[in-house]
Amino acid sequence: MLDQPSEISVRPSTEEDVPAMLSIYAYHVQHGVGDYVTEPLHPEDIKRRRKSMLKHRLPHLVAERGGAIIGYAYAVPFRKRPAYRYAVKHSIYVHKDHLRMGVGRQLLPALIEACAGAGYRQIISYVDAENTASLLLHDSFGFERIGVLKSIGFKFGKWTDTVLMQRALGEGDASLPLALALPADPR
Ligand SMILES: CC(C)(COP(=O)(O)OP(=O)(O)OC[C@H]1O[C@@H](n2cnc3c(N)ncnc32)[C@H](O)[C@@H]1OP(=O)(O)O)[C@@H](O)C(=O)NCCC(=O)NCCS
Repeated sequence: MLDQPSEISVRPSTEEDVPAMLSIYAYHVQHGVGDYVTEPLHPEDIKRRRKSMLKHRLPHLVAERGGAIIGYAYAVPFRKRPAYRYAVKHSIYVHKDHLRMGVGRQLLPALIEACAGAGYRQIISYVDAENTASLLLHDSFGFERIGVLKSIGFKFGKWTDTVLMQRALGEGDASLPLALALPADPR
């Protein structure tokens, strides 16, 4: 009998996951359209980012299969100014050898649920207009294509468009937000 691939599980990341996340990221920076960073990250960058996310009660998740980290996703504040404190933007990356196997389908809803649970009300994604996989993944989890930022990037020798995608979290704007443990309204 053939070995069945083991189940994918999603859990909060730990510092021990940093090297695996870096290697997933480094591949996509070099080969993909998923990110506009053109230099690989330093381990300390991911460590710092994780700590900052945890401070804001924002999720930093990994997907694991058979003990190996095969993807990760995290959310960051949309903008620093306090009026934007109920909005987040996120990133999601799947290991090159595990693409199109349902990892994104597990990570993205877990991220959405964690952000909603923490009291955030809107989630934003900037997706390269040629990144069909990401556009379709986000479509299928209720993100709306809000608009296109034309020729906003320059990567691999050409101008690139970015699609702004957005989804409400929890009650969205249907009710007033509960106070987050974040800076108060400016007076
Ligand atoms: C985008 C990404 C996270 C999707 O993750 P994934 O685990 O490969 O996706 P899944 O297997 O869960 O597929 C979910 C859906 O996404 C879409 N999709 C995924 N890969 C696709 C591809 N190569 N072509 C077309 N659609 C694709 C499909 O709608 C798919 O559903 P289906 O398989 O039922 O048709 C992954 O391709 C990735 O890490 N890309 C590089 C980094 C990146 O671009 N990140 C997003 C930045 S905005």
